[in-house]
Amino acid sequence: MEDHILVESRGPVLELRINRPDKKNALTQAMYAALADALDGAATDDTVAVAIITGAGDIFTSGNDLKDFQETPPVGADQPVYRFIRAIAAFPKVLIAGVNGAAIGIGTTMLLHCDLVVASRLAMFHMPFVDLALVPEAGSSLLFPRLVGRQRAAKHLILAEPFDAETALDYGLVTELVDESDVVPRARQLAERVAAKPPEAVRITKQLIASPAASLEERIAAEGEHFAARLQSAEAPEAFRAFFEKRPPNFR
Ligand code: COA
Repeated sequence: MEDHILVESRGPVLELRINRPDKKNALTQAMYAALADALDGAATDDTVAVAIITGAGDIFTSGNDLKDFQETPPVGADQPVYRFIRAIAAFPKVLIAGVNGAAIGIGTTMLLHCDLVVASRLAMFHMPFVDLALVPEAGSSLLFPRLVGRQRAAKHLILAEPFDAETALDYGLVTELVDESDVVPRARQLAERVAAKPPEAVRITKQLIASPAASLEERIAAEGEHFAARLQSAEAPEAFRAFFEKRPPNFR
């Protein structure tokens, strides 16, 4: 089953590829387990700075394997799908999605947990949970309306209308659109850029961006504490030195 999730290290970038093209990259429990293991491992591996998730073939993923749903419905928080959702939601490093084609069900909802999303101009997004007599997962009933507004969320989570790549870009679900063949190269380019940055500053910034809404006062105070600690960190002197020495910084 492992070859249904390809895991490849490219220097500080860990690449995960959903690789079950004959079933449109539908995700089985074993595949969720492999993804969760890879993300959990990368979270504590100091050699990994960034992870990329993408799909093989012409689709990102057709979502949960519907046969798996019928035969072994995941019930209970220890099920691989929930391990995957927790792993992706708590992943402390930058996670970049390369959406090479259609993203269905969890294929769309997992993007709400990604920091940067590069998508093919031909990608399509669809959350057909209600039509399958299911409900949204992966925190999408909270995060999606927060992103697009309640009434647009209802269009896609209750009416279950698919949306195209331009709409996903307008919604802010996607960072940028490229030709399909450029999805992975562009995701790698962004990953290299992130990997060259000071890791602790990146980690804290991601955590602040991804954390649930706080009051502005609380947020300014939290930022202030982090900012002061950052100035005294090991990374800041290298950043300042590099500026004055007119050279690129080296944080690795
Ligand atoms: N679970 C299990 N098998 C799936 C699947 C899924 N989510 N999505 C596709 N497959 C299988 C099909 O059963 C088919 O298998 P077969 O060749 O043994 O008959 C194969 O993948 C190819 O799918 P097909 O429907 O013929 O391809 P398509 O290009 O016409 O359509 C999709 C692609 C993704 C639009 C379509 O397969 C689809 O709607 N899938 C279901 C998506 C879904 O509802 N996901 C659950 C979200 S909660």
